[in-house]
Amino acid sequence: MKMTRRGFVGTVGLGSVAGLLSSTGLTSKNANAASNYEAEAVYDGGIMQLNQNESARGPGPKTLEAIRSHVTKRLGRGYAPDHVNELRETLADYYGVTTDNVILATGSGPLLVGAARAFCSESKPLVTTGPTYTTAEQTARRIAAPIRSIPVNSSTMGIDLDDMAEAAVGAGMVYFCNPNNPTGTVHSPEAVESFIRRVQRESPNTKMLIDEAYINYVFDEAMQTALPLAMEFENVFITRSFSKAHGMAGLRVGYALGQQQTLAAVSGAWGMGDVNMLSAIAAITAFNDKEHIDWERQENAEIRAIVVAAFNAMGFEVADSHTNHIFVNLGRPAKEFRDACLEHKILVGRDFPPFENTHCRISMGSREEMQKAVEVFRKVLA
Ligand SMILES: Cc1ncc(COP(=O)(O)O)c(C=O)c1O
Repeated sequence: MKMTRRGFVGTVGLGSVAGLLSSTGLTSKNANAASNYEAEAVYDGGIMQLNQNESARGPGPKTLEAIRSHVTKRLGRGYAPDHVNELRETLADYYGVTTDNVILATGSGPLLVGAARAFCSESKPLVTTGPTYTTAEQTARRIAAPIRSIPVNSSTMGIDLDDMAEAAVGAGMVYFCNPNNPTGTVHSPEAVESFIRRVQRESPNTKMLIDEAYINYVFDEAMQTALPLAMEFENVFITRSFSKAHGMAGLRVGYALGQQQTLAAVSGAWGMGDVNMLSAIAAITAFNDKEHIDWERQENAEIRAIVVAAFNAMGFEVADSHTNHIFVNLGRPAKEFRDACLEHKILVGRDFPPFENTHCRISMGSREEMQKAVEVFRKVLA
């Protein structure tokens, strides 16, 4: 079933919607912006997908309009697709770098594969965290590069950056996901900077990939981009994704920022795919629509706060999340919870060792979805 907010209001009337949502706290302080924007609750195949950290709301209205208005016969011409260079220029101008400091990819996934292939090998280990996003680790395993995985701190769920720095000595590359998936935790600009300077000093041949896929969900005081450090050190580069707060997972756009020779090594090691013209115009529009991103960040934060409060009220602890997902200590195997939720047509996150017997990752859906999901969580955890 697919129900839009507009359709839902039309069916049951504004007053009853307000009553229904406020009874769970799922009404919007962000309502003015929300009224301009039709947030869709997407139940794919009847299953609510809270398992992949995609966007429940999809691209903003301006982005959707830009895509629609570019669906013309011009799409017949695309081997030198319109708007792809413009996207690179848009990103470079905004960040105050040159287009040589930007590479595009069909999602940030290929960048992570290329990076591990470029900088790790049988004699050059990958340093990563457990749990974290695993593409770099899977790639290292495929090319038989040793893996040094530093467990997150089991009480704060933060990454132990001192242990990571020690493990980095002699490594080919460090993968540092900030904010981290699945824990949602962030590291402050000061912590990131002192980590990077230490690794640079103690292991000058080690590359450092800072994955900022979720940065648009973070409020400035909690963390900032490592881009200035990437422009200072050839060893440091960052990756970004349009799949999360920009709501464009289905359009496959990601990019890396860093020094030219570092990015050239990444794109030389693995195919980055070709960003197509519809994805490029969508990405330019989404990137420039700062008002929508601000709304999306606020909307996500409000929904997340309500869901976290619901888990806390049930007696479960949630790691301090700055993303569109939460990592909840349910004190039982994630599989047990996942199977129980699936009986109610809700899909939650996979196992994340070493926390598969206690924690589950839950992606944040729309307000409507999370209202329903919280009721199900209460039921299955009772
Ligand atoms: C931390 C992180 N990095 C990268 C990706 C890859 O995303 P995409 O290839 O859609 O840009 C994901 C996807 O979930 C992720 O969580």
